[in-house]
Amino acid sequence: MRPESLKTRIFLDGGDPDETRELIELLGFLDGQTTNPTLISRNPEAKRRRKKFGKFTEEELLEFYREVVVEISRLIPEGSVSVEVYADLDTTSASMLMQGREMYSWINNAHIKFPTNAEGLKALSEAVASGLRANMTLCFRQEQAAAVYAASREGRRGDVFVSPFVGRLDDRGQNGMSLITNILKMYRVGDGHVQVLTASVRGYEHLQAAIAMGSDIVTAPFDVLKEWADKGLPLPGKDYLYRSQDLEDIPYLALNLDGEWEHYDIFHELTDKGIQRFAEDWDSLLV
Ligand code: E4P
Repeated sequence: MRPESLKTRIFLDGGDPDETRELIELLGFLDGQTTNPTLISRNPEAKRRRKKFGKFTEEELLEFYREVVVEISRLIPEGSVSVEVYADLDTTSASMLMQGREMYSWINNAHIKFPTNAEGLKALSEAVASGLRANMTLCFRQEQAAAVYAASREGRRGDVFVSPFVGRLDDRGQNGMSLITNILKMYRVGDGHVQVLTASVRGYEHLQAAIAMGSDIVTAPFDVLKEWADKGLPLPGKDYLYRSQDLEDIPYLALNLDGEWEHYDIFHELTDKGIQRFAEDWDSLLV
């Protein structure tokens, strides 16, 4: 059962509805799920079908993604399910938006994932203006989170998530959790329309730290959430201290949230790298 004092919403990061089912049993609740092209490419049924029938056509793969998302959505009808558009470095905002609108029609509880680059932010601004919910993925710096805020001012609380990728920052020696602290601090003066979704969680300590810091949402792989369930769903105490080992803290920037999104310096090489990796994983399934 959901611990009474838990404020952070708990999402599963995965592309296999069987995991969703099992986790709901283990936790007794689940607030949502995030998917991405890599996770869909690892789906056991996708692997089975590929082995049996060969690679997918684009239509077949999209239809497979839809089936997966519909199944997950039925398991957590009150939660949120993030569905990611296909994007490479040349994908335009118009293409992202077209895909996003189609995906949004698949289920009633979708958040559409756009990459946090210039085209993705353009798509976000139009998506929110036309009433779509969005989750801005591949966020690696505070300026990107400020741009997400600025590009979605019309959004209401719950309409927009920003997903900072803590594990991938850790991988290169930077303390990903310090970015979460910085974004939460920066958003404190805002109207709360963007919620912070801690993503790229690699272990139990990331989960505990995200809860302790007051991240609005944390998405974690099955094994991490299972470990939490096996331990009895403990919550970090008031004296909880996240040990970032020898990772370097990312300094806080005093950014003003009132600017136009185009004026923030949003480039991050990991965003571009992440876009390419998602595209490659998706393409690897195609004929
Ligand atoms: C979730 O929305 C993200 O796509 C996911 O957490 C990325 O995790 P990774 O960095 O382990 O691939």
